[in-house]
Amino acid sequence: MHTMLTLDLSHLDGFVSQEQLTAMADEVAAAHAKLYDSSAPGSDFTGWVRLPEAYDKEEFDRILKAAKKIRSDSEVLVVIGIGGSYLGARTALEIFPSDGPDICFVGCSLSPNEIQKVMRRIGNRSWSINVISKSGGTIEPAIAFRIFREHLEKKYGAEANSRIYATTDKARGALKSVADKNGWETFVIPDEVGGRFSVLTAVGLLPIAVSGTDINELMAGAAEAMEKYDLRSMDNPVWQYVAARNLLYRQGKKIEIFCNYEPSYTFFGEWLKQLFGESEGKDGKGIFPASVQLTTDLHSMGQFIQDGERILFETVIYVDDTGCDVAVPHCDDDGDNLNYLAGKPMSFVREMAFQGTLAAHHDGGAPAMVLRSPKMNARTLGELFYFFELSCGISGHVLQVNPFNQPGVEAYKKNMFALLGRP
Ligand code: PA5
Repeated sequence: MHTMLTLDLSHLDGFVSQEQLTAMADEVAAAHAKLYDSSAPGSDFTGWVRLPEAYDKEEFDRILKAAKKIRSDSEVLVVIGIGGSYLGARTALEIFPSDGPDICFVGCSLSPNEIQKVMRRIGNRSWSINVISKSGGTIEPAIAFRIFREHLEKKYGAEANSRIYATTDKARGALKSVADKNGWETFVIPDEVGGRFSVLTAVGLLPIAVSGTDINELMAGAAEAMEKYDLRSMDNPVWQYVAARNLLYRQGKKIEIFCNYEPSYTFFGEWLKQLFGESEGKDGKGIFPASVQLTTDLHSMGQFIQDGERILFETVIYVDDTGCDVAVPHCDDDGDNLNYLAGKPMSFVREMAFQGTLAAHHDGGAPAMVLRSPKMNARTLGELFYFFELSCGISGHVLQVNPFNQPGVEAYKKNMFALLGRP
């Protein structure tokens, strides 16, 4: 077993006690069991729980082959998708930038500027499209796909069909029909895996594989996490995290701020916000997920976290070894008075900022949990994805909501389509 994350609860001192955590065991156990109970709310959408071992190996090989082809025939890959069909791949790409094609994301807004920017970015280079939509009918990616497909067909004619990869439902939806009609290579988003839990399906895996990141390692990290975090006791860090965040919520800490100290993890915060926001925010309940990037946001949001309304707690994702370090140089004149740090690595300065911030926020009434990852690699990212997916599934059941539906997102669509005059 190589899983490596550690959860530190010491900064909950005075807010959540060991006794309170222990007392949550039965509640968390019952919530965990619901993920395997076919009569539990949302039980049709728990395919992600065993996904790291139960994924389609034949399709996985096709993903690797398609990625190889795209890397060899395309200087640009345009990935079209939104929400759960976008955030996971973008998260991984921000952490591990592509060493192959330039990968652009579009279809995650209704901004004509974004379309134009990506068009310019493609320029005269060779390119392909990966369009991702489980329903096949979401308006943002559908419009973007219509535009980029036309653009691709103008350049390549009939060859365009071998440059479009569609990730969608196995049988239903407009995208599946048009893909079959045109002979595009398709990848499946399994019925039992909802969008925000789909990063370890072709939704995330194809763009990640094209970027050059080892998706075998990503899946291996998730598989190890799946085994390790299935432990049914309060020794399980997932149980501790779930219990603590629900205890904090019950004492009025209604906002969870996901913090990171590594800018390339900023998008991980976006992925987490969708995961928890869409899973828990319903029936008038839920912890509001927010995110900050530190130390950057200590100079913007730091004031509120330290001193504003005491309704928040922090969950810090801290990566120890980000793969490089830079020492503070010595300067003879020491005009900036920084020679006391000369020779010290920036990672040391960051660690001290992190420790100082944790203590200050705790003293100011903002408790924190720290999830530490020793390294920044595909394996730990796989583990992180799974840690939070499992935490979210269990936590939603502790909160007594259906963590796997999203009825609230329909309301605006109804109004929008009425205004657009959809027949
Ligand atoms: O998590 C979800 O279900 C949503 O965020 C969807 O992923 C998002 O709305 C995109 O849907 P689709 O993949 O059907 O285009």
